[in-house]
Formats: sequence, C-alpha cells, structure tokens
Amino acid sequence: MGKRAKTDPEGGMKAILKLPDGKIELPILVGSENERAIDITQLRSETGYITYDNGYGNTGSCRSEITYIDGEQGILRYRGYPIEELAEKSRFVEVAWLLISGELPTKPQLQSFSELLTRNAALHEGLRHHFEGFPPDAHPMAMLSAMINACSCYHPELLEMEDESHVLEGSAKLLSKVRTIAAFSYRKSIGRPIIHPHPKLSYTRNFLHMMFSQPFELYEAPDVVDRALTLLLTLHADHEQNCSTSTVRMVGSSGANLFASTAAGVCALWGPLHGGANLAVVNMLRKINESGIPLKEFIEKVKTDPNLRLMGFGHRVYKNYDPRAQILKKTADRLLNELGIQNPLLNIAKEIEGMVLEDDYFIERKLFPNVDFYSGIILSALNIPANMFTVIFAIGRMPGWIANWYEQFCQKAKIVRPRQIYTGYATRHYIPLDQR
Ligand code: SDX
Repeated sequence: MGKRAKTDPEGGMKAILKLPDGKIELPILVGSENERAIDITQLRSETGYITYDNGYGNTGSCRSEITYIDGEQGILRYRGYPIEELAEKSRFVEVAWLLISGELPTKPQLQSFSELLTRNAALHEGLRHHFEGFPPDAHPMAMLSAMINACSCYHPELLEMEDESHVLEGSAKLLSKVRTIAAFSYRKSIGRPIIHPHPKLSYTRNFLHMMFSQPFELYEAPDVVDRALTLLLTLHADHEQNCSTSTVRMVGSSGANLFASTAAGVCALWGPLHGGANLAVVNMLRKINESGIPLKEFIEKVKTDPNLRLMGFGHRVYKNYDPRAQILKKTADRLLNELGIQNPLLNIAKEIEGMVLEDDYFIERKLFPNVDFYSGIILSALNIPANMFTVIFAIGRMPGWIANWYEQFCQKAKIVRPRQIYTGYATRHYIPLDQR
C-alpha cells in the first residue's frame, strides 16, 4: 500500500494573516505529496473577510485521495500509480475499478466487474424511444447528458445510494450505458439501425461494435484500434479537480444522485476550453491545412490576437508537457502508421509543437501541448466522427466523475456554496411603471 494522506500533522504549522484591523492564525494543511494549503475555514466567522480567487486557480475545494498531479513536473498518478505504467500495463475497466474502489482489482473482482458491465450494457426499451425525439443533427453531448438523466428514471433504486453495493451497481450502469447511449446517438445521426451490445465483447470492442457493425456484418476492431481506444479512455479517466469533475462534486454536494451529477459533468465538459478542445484542435488544424496559411504567420496571429488561442495548448495546472499528450503523440504516430493513414493534420500538429516550444511567448507563459492536442487525430483515425470527440472524452472521464462523487458521498462533505464580492447597486427603491 502506498503512502497515504496525512493532511493534519500533529502540532501543525500556522500561517499568520495580518489584516488592517488585526491578525489571525490559520492552520496549514500538508498533503501526502507535501503540497501545502492554508485552511481558511474559520476566516469569515473570525474576521468578516472572505478570499477572492478568480477561477479558483489557488483554491483547494476538497481533500481527495484519487488523483495526484504535479503540474511543474508533469506528473499524473491515479491512486498513486503513474499514468505511464497504467497506460502501458492496464486496461480501462481495471483503471475504472482502481479509481472508484481505490485499489487494483483482484482477478475475481475484475471478472465480476466486467460481467456487471456486460449485464448493464443494454438500455431499457423505453429509453430507446427517447432517441426518436431528438432531431437527426442533435449534438451528441446534449443527447448524452439528457439520456444519462433519463437513465435514472428507469433505475429509481439507484437514486438513493445507501451503500457500496448500490454505488457499484450504479457505477456499472453508468460506465456501461454511456457507451451504448453514445453509439445509439451516432447510429441515429447517420440514419442507421441501432446495433445492440454484444455479450462476448470487451468494453471498447463492444463500443466499436455498436458504432460500426451492420445488421448483416459484425465489425471486428483490429487490435491496434482496440488498444488505441482503450489507451485514450484510460488517459482521460480522471484528472483531479478539473472543471467538469468539480461540477460533479458541486452538484453531488447538494445530495443530488450520481446520474444527475454526472449529467452535469457532461455539460461542463462540453465547453471548448475544456473537453470540447479536442474538436477545436482538429478544426484549427483543418483550417490551417485548407487555408495554406504559413504556420509561422498563424502562430504570430495567436500571439497578437487576444481572442485567438492555440487550441490543445496550455493548462491551468500543467506548466510542463502534459504526460498524457506525450503518450498520445506516440500513439498517434503508431496508429496511423499501422493503419497506413496519411493525415496531414498530424504533421501540422508536430510542426506547430516544434515551433511553439521554442517561441518565447509560449515559453514565458509555460504553454505546452495538453491532452487534447493529439487526441482528435487519433479519434479521426478510429473513424469516430468529429462531433463525438468530446463524447469519447466523457466516456473516458466517467470513472473519475463517479470516484469523486463517491469520495464526497463518503466524506459527507458540506454543500458547496461559495461567497462573492458584491459590486452591484446599494439599496434603491421601486419606481412605479408610469414614472420610469
Ligand atoms: C482540458 O483542468 C483540467 O485538468 C482539464 C483537462 C482534464 O483532463 O480535465 O486537462 C482537460 O480541459 C485541457 C485544456 C483544453 N483546453 C484547451 O486546449 C484550450 C486552449 N487552452 C486555453 O484556453 C488555456 O490554456 C486553458 C483554458 C486550458 C487554461 O487557461 P488558464 O489557466 O486560465 O490560463 P489563462 O487563460 O489565464 O492564460 C494565461 C496566459 C494568457 O496570456 P496573458 O494574458 O498572460 O498575456 O497564457 C495565455 C493567455 O492568453 N494562453 C494562451 C493559451 N492558453 C493560455 N495563449 C495562446 N494559446 C493558448 N492555448
């Protein structure tokens, strides 16, 4: 067992905050990797002050044992295991169990969890009809969020989770059905009949089967395709208190059930600054390729136009190369090579990376490739349509959302309710309509 958190060492250190009208001593918390936090829980009650931290870049929202990131060193560990080892040796279902339960599964545990996922892959017939209500060009992220919530209508027994067995059952339903929902929404968008899950296929092979099989012909994913998708899902499985995971914790903190909380996580992930970036990267690379704009000129534009971002670069936490991007860059090379695919966007991406990593503008701001920079190129090679890139991210992130919701559930955490700095009008009085 690895070193566990020791956040409140005996005789803990204190921070002294000097205020215009006095001072206050605040406890210092120390995490298991020695990161330090000033505990301001008593600040407002003792001084009347609150803190202000736009975007919460300097604010810890919770104590968590799930994922550790060292942004300066480019380190990412799930429950203490380095992402590089899990990427090489593990598989998505095993990593999902690790994140949710806290330990790598034994053989019997993995076997029964896989069987639970298989048993929960199908959708209730009533759920299937919901797809008829969506227009053909409905965005798959809108469908995914709606259908996750709709799932809970067919499993009322999982709305009140009392214990671990309920959470395991609910996790299996969510992890398994998000795949089916995603595949069904794709089949509907292309006007093809849905393909039901296959009881003998692994997690990723079953998803690819539901996406690409035909009623008369089974799609059997080549090993390199199965491995690439498994790796992609594993690398996306959790990432500490990112925007969507924080959303899941915030919604769950009100006592909202696991389905409602993860459906909210899907909505937060949709944004182009977060999970929507993988699609934004491919659109950016495609525009560069089609316009023929010299890369140097494009990069200069990014540096001068405040509204233009180099999508797939930069990160709130990583001020070094995102370790996931390192792995995905190698995977993109290997996958396209083994599939014999020539994708000019990969060459453009590599050229941009090479130029940017030597450019002072990006160096000063510590902007490196993040997880989204190469993932879209891999997804394109797997024939996943562009509007489903973020859906794949959501399927991958589901174990992390569940693990965080469950951790908070066990911690019996307080409802999340931040304060604000009010900048509006002072008191003013109602003006009758005929006097305005
Ligand atoms: C994900 O949090 C997570 O863990 C997220 C994630 C996960 O696994 O859950 O890792 C997944 O969301 C990855 C990020 C995907 N998003 C993108 O690739 C979109 C492009 N990147 C950015 O918009 C930006 O880097 C963010 C949103 C990711 C981070 O933004 P921050 O931390 O709020 O940084 P900032 O906006 O304050 O920028 C600091 C400076 C600014 O310049 P100055 O005002 O100081 O002159 O860096 C510049 C920004 O203009 N900058 C960029 C840039 N990102 C930041 N300039 C050009 N291109 C960029 N991509």
